[in-house]
Amino acid sequence: MKLFSSVNDVTNINELVAEGLKLKQNPYAFQDLGKNKTIGLVFLNPSLRTRLSTQKAALNLGMNVIVLNMDKEGWALELQDGAIMNGGSVEHIKEAAAVMGEYCDIIGIRSFPGLKDRDEDYSESIFNKFVKYCGVPVVSLESATRHPLQSLADLITIEELKTKTRPKVVLTWAPHVKALPQAVPNSFAEWMCKADVDFVIAHPKGYELNTDFTNGATITDNQDEALKDADFIYVKNWSAYEPYGQVLPGNEDWMLTLDKLKPTNDAKVMHCLPVRRNVELSDEILDSDSSVVIHEAGNRVWAAQAVLKEMLQSL
Ligand code: CP
Repeated sequence: MKLFSSVNDVTNINELVAEGLKLKQNPYAFQDLGKNKTIGLVFLNPSLRTRLSTQKAALNLGMNVIVLNMDKEGWALELQDGAIMNGGSVEHIKEAAAVMGEYCDIIGIRSFPGLKDRDEDYSESIFNKFVKYCGVPVVSLESATRHPLQSLADLITIEELKTKTRPKVVLTWAPHVKALPQAVPNSFAEWMCKADVDFVIAHPKGYELNTDFTNGATITDNQDEALKDADFIYVKNWSAYEPYGQVLPGNEDWMLTLDKLKPTNDAKVMHCLPVRRNVELSDEILDSDSSVVIHEAGNRVWAAQAVLKEMLQSL
């Protein structure tokens, strides 16, 4: 594997999930694979889980790890081709990415969308420029439109905790105070549509996701109906795709509560974190046995390790 940017870069998702679970049982089985190999983890935006879990995964594989918080520590990047750089930007992405490729065997990059220009964000121009100019394999640490390491960890979690062959998985929109990207729900939908699950998306009118990511899902604006008999509930906020990046008024009653769990099949509640307590998800859920959010975050290590192992094997 030379690129991990979406589910489409994975030959067989079931095998990758199984690999993650095997690594969870035996984290140091491939400690020699990454010897004298270096991964650079480049963050243009904040992170807790992605940064630490990917770093731990790489260390488990015996790799050297360099972390660069580009947003705080790097030179201000110029992203436009042909720019006359007489303003605030100091270094062009062409040189920055190419230089990183000189130091690293694999690069991970996190780059959030601006949520102002939909075409710009959905073209994944920053992520794609890193891929183009760094010259080494690249793993997405969350791009403008996808978060594949999160989705793989989510699928590993579902595989691990499911009590039936084909569980019902519901992605439900949740309220938030800020406009958030569509990367996590897009990516989760894309992975679930390829997994052996009954997949339902519930959101208020106006929060339709780009259909490129939801092909095969059942989509409804009736949250109560969607939650019936659910085995897993994936809670996530996202801003509107049209009008792009907007928070629409109302819908506070979409926050999940214990009462809403009653018609489910004793559903396990997932969230990628960070989560705003009592806005997106109630204390009573997060502090209950129904919540598997910490378990899910723990699985980020095995998702990253499965992907990095495949990348190292293809170097
Ligand atoms: N879920 C997730 O990606 O967390 P971080 O933003 O903290 O990395």
